[in-house]
Amino acid sequence: MTAGDGAGAAGLAAGGDARVAAVDNIRPVLWRDGAVVLIDQRKLPLEEVELQCTTWQEVAEAICNMTVRGAPALGVTAGMGMALAARQALADSSGDAARFHAAVQAASKALFETRPTAVNLPWALREMEPIWKREDLSPAEITEAIEKRAVRIFEEDLASCHAIGEHGADLITGDEPVVLTHCNAGALATAGYGTALGVIRSAYVRNPKLRVFADETRPLLQGARLTAWELVREGIPVSLITDNMSGYFMKKGAITHVVVGADRITANGDTANKIGTYMVSVLAREHGIPFYVAAPFSTIDLSLATGDSIPIEERAETEVTGYGSERWAPWDVKVRNPAFDVTPNANIAAIITDRGVARPPFTESLRALA
Ligand code: MRU
Repeated sequence: MTAGDGAGAAGLAAGGDARVAAVDNIRPVLWRDGAVVLIDQRKLPLEEVELQCTTWQEVAEAICNMTVRGAPALGVTAGMGMALAARQALADSSGDAARFHAAVQAASKALFETRPTAVNLPWALREMEPIWKREDLSPAEITEAIEKRAVRIFEEDLASCHAIGEHGADLITGDEPVVLTHCNAGALATAGYGTALGVIRSAYVRNPKLRVFADETRPLLQGARLTAWELVREGIPVSLITDNMSGYFMKKGAITHVVVGADRITANGDTANKIGTYMVSVLAREHGIPFYVAAPFSTIDLSLATGDSIPIEERAETEVTGYGSERWAPWDVKVRNPAFDVTPNANIAAIITDRGVARPPFTESLRALA
């Protein structure tokens, strides 16, 4: 795994409207010259550094240690990880199809086990499965096909984010909207442009009076470090608040809309997202503020009936007892650190997808979009 400078430059320019392109220039994951190039999100915003992965094992490590994170970006990265796995298997199997298949299957299983909550990751691996299981193709042909599919997953996610942005912008009404978002559902969490931040970007292009409140998002500070970085560098007005301030601002009437991303949405619309999202949804409901979830269709898991079945990742105690190398909690304290919570569908006014906007009852509206 090699690191280099210039993360901000990683990527393509968006096509279409120049004003949209001006707020679309971050690419957290790219397939470049047979390697997966990641913006190292652990180091943002203080350092903008790229990390180059040339093996699927390095990709798996980058997912576990949150170099790359955010549900759609995890799907894109896992797909590219499979492209590396096929290349490695091709080089190591000397044309033996059985060895090739076994190596690719082992990589798929290991990537599946990296992070449990975001469904985009297993979704991308499932997209690859029929390709590497094809018996009519040689290992070399399978390798080429997996690489092509990985690049297409990237392109499809980018297009989805722009579609989500356009659908969602219709919902950000009023002369001077103030949108609260939680965690980072931005360009960094997707192939680019973002889901919740895609809505915010598209709404801002339409109405430059829009302002944003970003929750800092303890414990890993995705709001303070990543959402704030994205919006500041694009000149979209943003105020950073701590997680426990949103009720204060809602009560004062300072927030008009809430838009968040999702890691997994079940058939009834229950939505897993970064820990603290549920709390925001309860506050929004109490204050009559519309609470929107923005996600591509690859985040919707129609195989699960309700949010009770979503696996919730528990992460290291050290994320709660301090930050980085600093510790502030006593040594013997017990800690809980669930990384996600589930917002019940009753608190969600609409789910904004690339295929359109789903309204309650979600069991029907999501099925109709599927
Ligand atoms: O733990 P993370 O940083 O991967 O969690 C990310 C989130 O919860 C995002 O809101 C979600 O993945 C949606 S990203 C478009």
